[in-house]
Amino acid sequence: MIEAPPSPKPSTKTNLVPANSSPMIAVRSLVKRIGQQEILCGVDLEIASGETLAIIGRSGGGKSVLLKHLVGLMAPDAGEIWIDGQNIIGMNERQLGAIRKKVGILFQSGALFDSMTVEENIAFPLREAGERDPKVLHAKVEEMLEVIEMEGQKDKMPESLSGGMKKRVGLARSIIRRPSCVLYDEPTSGLDPVVADSINRLIHRLQQRFGMTSVVVTHDMKSAFDVANHIAYLHEGRIYFYGTPIQLQQARDPILQDFLLGRSEQGVAATS
Ligand SMILES: Nc1ncnc2c1ncn2[C@@H]1O[C@H](COP(=O)(O)OP(=O)(O)O)[C@@H](O)[C@H]1O
Ligand SMILES: [Mg+2]
Repeated sequence: MIEAPPSPKPSTKTNLVPANSSPMIAVRSLVKRIGQQEILCGVDLEIASGETLAIIGRSGGGKSVLLKHLVGLMAPDAGEIWIDGQNIIGMNERQLGAIRKKVGILFQSGALFDSMTVEENIAFPLREAGERDPKVLHAKVEEMLEVIEMEGQKDKMPESLSGGMKKRVGLARSIIRRPSCVLYDEPTSGLDPVVADSINRLIHRLQQRFGMTSVVVTHDMKSAFDVANHIAYLHEGRIYFYGTPIQLQQARDPILQDFLLGRSEQGVAATS
């Protein structure tokens, strides 16, 4: 891994993370093969409680595969994943269920149920968890609507929502059970820059309001720089760089520079 050079000036970004807090997530020597291909070749990564980490890297580099491991949707060939002090490798589905209550995931597609209203979509995870009291469901949905700034839109159907609104509803659904951590897979992909900014601000607000830990996989460098306390660059199955946004901007490593400037046919500009 490239060690980030020491930053000459303290970061202007608020760093909410106490230096000695135990990590919310720790990944140790994670290896994943799919078929003949080694996708992850020994990933080491720590995510402190309350921080936002952005994971960047080329398309097809294994970012989504890495996220799926963090909630037990994929099992590694080797290595460990610690969530809030528990190693999740080898856990059964019931134990993983408890982990998924702590760690929510927002998939790239958002995947709303088309036949359900906004309210029904957002309340779905609570119903699934056994909550039936309409008052409780309603109050929690209202709170989420306020968080995503979509008050008064609970009766709409997904088909009548813009792309940005669908993402926000998907996000509300991911956080309604108040996970302490949310994983976002390309939350701003396919959105125009203004809407992308609103999603980034929402991620930031969740960190401020609920102290939520966030992991944001993105190929959108502006998003990474806007939301992250730390940025990890996944390259050839390993974390090639880990540091603050300022440290990444100042890095002179040619491989990083190629990625940041989108040089090479598979570069940032070409990813989807
Ligand atoms: N379920 C799967 N079955 C087979 N190959 C997969 C599967 N998921 C991912 N892969 C492969 O793993 C590699 C990494 O994929 P992915 O994590 O989606 O990349 P990224 O999210 O960085 O764009 C790709 O080569 C992809 O084709
Ligand atoms: Mg992906």
